[in-house]
Amino acid sequence: MIERATFHAGRYHLAQEQEMAVADRRERHEQTLKRFYAHSMDLVVEQGWQHPLFSEAPNVLQMGTATASTTKTFVDFVHDINSKAHITVADFSDYPLQQSQDEGLRCEPNVNFVRTDTTKLGFVDNTFDLIETDGLLQFLSPEQKTQAVAEWYRTLKPGGVVTTRDRFVSVNDAPKEWDTLNKIRKHFSQRFGVYSYPTTTEVMRYKFNAQGFSTLIENTQVIDPRMLLIHDIVAQKPKIIK
Ligand SMILES: C[S@@+](CC[C@H](N)C(=O)[O-])C[C@H]1O[C@@H](n2cnc3c(N)ncnc32)[C@H](O)[C@@H]1O
Repeated sequence: MIERATFHAGRYHLAQEQEMAVADRRERHEQTLKRFYAHSMDLVVEQGWQHPLFSEAPNVLQMGTATASTTKTFVDFVHDINSKAHITVADFSDYPLQQSQDEGLRCEPNVNFVRTDTTKLGFVDNTFDLIETDGLLQFLSPEQKTQAVAEWYRTLKPGGVVTTRDRFVSVNDAPKEWDTLNKIRKHFSQRFGVYSYPTTTEVMRYKFNAQGFSTLIENTQVIDPRMLLIHDIVAQKPKIIK
């Protein structure tokens, strides 16, 4: 009897520890995302661009969310700055949209959910003040990247900005950096079964500038040296289009 009780208590503690570890990981992930979002806004302001959340009722797109925790972190981040901001949460997969709604985000004021592919956005021209997407570009083929950046340009209002970040290397980087990128890509493929495309900062800058964006691409190590190869991209659609 005692042995059985000990066994159950052991399993209970193990389950509790696992739950705590999951909660801890989620908490750390949310903290990292908040720092990313805040850092992107700092970069936008440093460029002398208009803060995309400072207008009366800005229209915001979160493109590719992955989890309810990511959606919630972004919605809280935006609404802490401007509670009147309207946020469209979009993904081409039903799962993160459904999970976000099931976790209560359906009832958040000024938030709606849309299933759409970022290479063919179902929104009219000049809709958004801000498009934020994190870790999405790496999963798009070169052709899809071009289409996505074109769609972001089309759907942003003049003066609107894209903020994003992903792993890139530079053509000038040492082979060591390329090896690191390939190790991370291999890990992604083995752990999550997804293919990520190796991309350079030069190609990304070209794709944004070719659409007409003003573009800043910068290594994110300033906020955490463990963020290997992650680069911020902030890009503004011109206020006046010639
Ligand atoms: C790496 S996850 C984003 C991770 C998230 N930033 C986080 O930290 O939790 C990429 C997301 O983009 C979505 N996605 C990938 N390709 C897409 C596409 N072409 N259009 C729309 N969403 C896409 C995936 O379904 C996934 O939810």
